[in-house]
Amino acid sequence: MIAVGFKSFGGPDVLEELEIEEPKPEDGYAIVRISHTSVNRLDTLVRKGYSPGIALPHIPGSDVYGIIDRIDGGKNVFAEGDKVIVHPLISCGICAECVSGKEDICRKWGAIGREKNGSYAELVKIKVDQLFRPPAHLSGMELACLPLSLTAAWRGLVLSEPAPEKTVVIRGASGNVGIIALMLSKALGMRTIAITRNSIKATELVRIGADSVIDSSEPEYLQRLDDEVGAGGADSVLDCTGEINESIKIVKIGGKVISYGVLKNQKSEIDISNLYLKSVHVIGTRLSTRKEFGDAIRFVGENRICPIIGRELSITDAAEAHMLLEGSKVFGKILLKLN
Ligand SMILES: NC(=O)c1ccc[n+]([C@@H]2O[C@H](COP(=O)([O-])OP(=O)(O)OC[C@H]3O[C@@H](n4cnc5c(N)ncnc54)[C@H](OP(=O)(O)O)[C@@H]3O)[C@@H](O)[C@H]2O)c1
Ligand SMILES: [Zn+2]
Repeated sequence: MIAVGFKSFGGPDVLEELEIEEPKPEDGYAIVRISHTSVNRLDTLVRKGYSPGIALPHIPGSDVYGIIDRIDGGKNVFAEGDKVIVHPLISCGICAECVSGKEDICRKWGAIGREKNGSYAELVKIKVDQLFRPPAHLSGMELACLPLSLTAAWRGLVLSEPAPEKTVVIRGASGNVGIIALMLSKALGMRTIAITRNSIKATELVRIGADSVIDSSEPEYLQRLDDEVGAGGADSVLDCTGEINESIKIVKIGGKVISYGVLKNQKSEIDISNLYLKSVHVIGTRLSTRKEFGDAIRFVGENRICPIIGRELSITDAAEAHMLLEGSKVFGKILLKLN
């Protein structure tokens, strides 16, 4: 089958077409045929070797949308030929956390495209309990943009206890997680301040609903941000870039900073004084629970939210796609076409 992956860690040029056998049927699993997937920052971090314990060769890709080619078990819910969108989280399913619906903190936690081969392939084998019915208003290409960024964006908003009167700041707002988080926060009625380093993307962010946009490449941007959030500070910050200290500075006393991760292999020293004196809650999050993913899908359907496609490339151009993403060159998701 067609698949692109890497045999060693490194730059985008390690991505190559791989000779991979088709996945074998197994009870409790579906084999999903993919026509498009999309690129996330995670794919590039995995490719660079920043995620521990990845076996080589490896196929990245966490965004699985497609048609069930074969299913063994779970037939009362899904059948061959059904369109499905896939919750990217892998968990053991039997530990106390999994049984109580907190599979995001399972000790055997993982993600499709990270601990397991992912979606840069024509066929992907998926546990039946990760399958969901997609919202009907979206095309296949749009659905291929959603799984990883939606699950992260929704979870971050849930943790920040969204409410219409609240202000949320999104750092890295023009990225995969940032754009969908902005759409969700606006649909939830929140005042949303977006941060970008790029004036063209700033215009796009206003177009898709940001109440205000701060360009962090401008001098005095921290002052502008302070003015924009107001004296009390923001209720919450969704931090997609890892600039935790700046996030702690702009959140209100008792506010919440949701930390999604880092963009490089960077380490941050947290300013403890600011953290405790403001009683800030810094919350790390990884993906979401199955229930939250189902809620997110339903919310996208009810609010007719449409992800933004920035570029479509062939799967054989995956290296170019990674370069574009790492250079923050595209506004919207970069799609990879499988056939
Ligand atoms: N925890 C989870 O569940 C989860 C799930 C998905 C993703 N993530 C993490 O969330 C983060 C964002 O992922 P993503 O896929 O949205 O990434 P992305 O598409 O690359 O977006 C990141 C955005 O941050 C800005 N940016 C890039 N480099 C920057 C830098 N050096 N300094 C400041 N801003 C910079 C860029 O916007 P401008 O060019 O407009 O400034 C870019 O659009 C990553 O750390 C990823 O691993 C976590
Ligand atoms: Zn578990």
